[in-house]
Amino acid sequence: LRGDEVIVVSNREPYIHQREGDAIVVKRPASGLVTAVEPVMRACSGTWIAHGSGSADRDVVDANDHVRVPPGAEDYTLRRLWLTEEEEAGYYFGFANEGLWPLCHVAHVRPVFRESDWQRYREVNQRFADAVVAEARSEDPIVLVQDYHFALLPAMVRAKLPRATILTFWHIPWPNPESFGICPWRRELLEGMLGSTILGFHTRYHCKNFIETVDRYLEARIEHEHSIVSYRDDETFIESYPISIEWPTERTVARWPSVEDCRRNVRQRLGLPADQLIACGVDRFDYTKGILERLHAVERLLEKYPRWTDRFSFVQVAAPSRSSLPEYRVFQERIKEVTERINTRFGNEHWQPVRLLAEHHDTDAVNELYRASEVCVVTSLHDGMNLVCKEYCAARDDEAGVLILSRFAGAARELNEALIVNPYHVEETADALHRALTMPQAEQRERMASLRMTVREANVYRWAGLMLADAGRWRLRERIEAR
Ligand code: G6P
Repeated sequence: LRGDEVIVVSNREPYIHQREGDAIVVKRPASGLVTAVEPVMRACSGTWIAHGSGSADRDVVDANDHVRVPPGAEDYTLRRLWLTEEEEAGYYFGFANEGLWPLCHVAHVRPVFRESDWQRYREVNQRFADAVVAEARSEDPIVLVQDYHFALLPAMVRAKLPRATILTFWHIPWPNPESFGICPWRRELLEGMLGSTILGFHTRYHCKNFIETVDRYLEARIEHEHSIVSYRDDETFIESYPISIEWPTERTVARWPSVEDCRRNVRQRLGLPADQLIACGVDRFDYTKGILERLHAVERLLEKYPRWTDRFSFVQVAAPSRSSLPEYRVFQERIKEVTERINTRFGNEHWQPVRLLAEHHDTDAVNELYRASEVCVVTSLHDGMNLVCKEYCAARDDEAGVLILSRFAGAARELNEALIVNPYHVEETADALHRALTMPQAEQRERMASLRMTVREANVYRWAGLMLADAGRWRLRERIEAR
């Protein structure tokens, strides 16, 4: 693949340039997709096309809406595409986040399908597909299409660049055919995705669901043993590629403040006594993350094991997300109410059991919290992979700390040494919290060492490497067949 042209398409951009007075401030978004894909782009260069979400400032982008990033290093080109308010409302908030997001997560939030959102979704997919074609310098680029915002784009690009290698990665779960079948445009979505050369999901289970969905709703030929779907003139290889994080280098780790300092700083900042035990949660403020169930588990812990009164705090970082959607606003208000209720019920004048920090925290602040927390709690009701649990392991180079992980996160298939819970089972999660808080050091070390080995090996370069290696084999086969 050396020398091949790489183009990434995603909705969320890796760097947001925001004008604040005379200065341009660069921000990083809270997005698992960006966390995973950005290191890969830094390594392989190329062009990343994304929705411009900051200031459309001519001091930042050139006449073609290009800017070299990361700031300072300038390893690759970010091409921004600006959307109108109407486009963003219909394509992003509407069809992607009120339709596809709840449809694929099956977290008991009813998907909303509006004809007008669907129109905008199609138009915006076409605009991004046109941008891919405009950016391509060769007729056979490798196009990495990211996520549910662009289900139609693979076939649109295929129509214009028939020799492109299109790798689509679906970062969220794929539900079973019955669940997916309620979408009025199921056929169009599947046809769009089958424009891909390779279609990747996090787990075998999601691949199986996708293949069964195609089998149910399209007249396609399926080679089950090779995971290949043939539809019209195209073949698509369906495979699982578990996504991950960039494992921190020795130089990065050397810059981190010591665990002692992190423990002290976080406790001081939150006004907690030095010997307070902390369990943390770090999520976007999203109803799929199981934050309510987690709070119920904390409440049950305090009821069932009163010895934790005054001795334990649960710290939840919740980065505001998609807050203009009613489902999200109602959910965020509900979490605030439940937090207050638990604090009133169990707290006293010196101690509040739950701290809800409803604001975005940068990477260093999150890393400090991970290193300061005895326990990290990930209780997603459904999650493609979840990277918070992997980040927690990477942050604990002291091999201490306990991970509690939902069995409904893709990561539960890899991270066997976590305490695996069903977040809907409040009692089980409360008991897991108690077990984590009382786990002997030796057991913590044994589990954490094994978790760290898994994440270090199966890092994000392996994810990208496996996909690109499959793409390389595919390209070779096509070149041989073309001779
Ligand atoms: C999930 C999605 C990503 C998305 C991220 C943040 O991880 O799979 O595509 O970027 O959430 O959500 P947002 O809507 O803010 O981009």
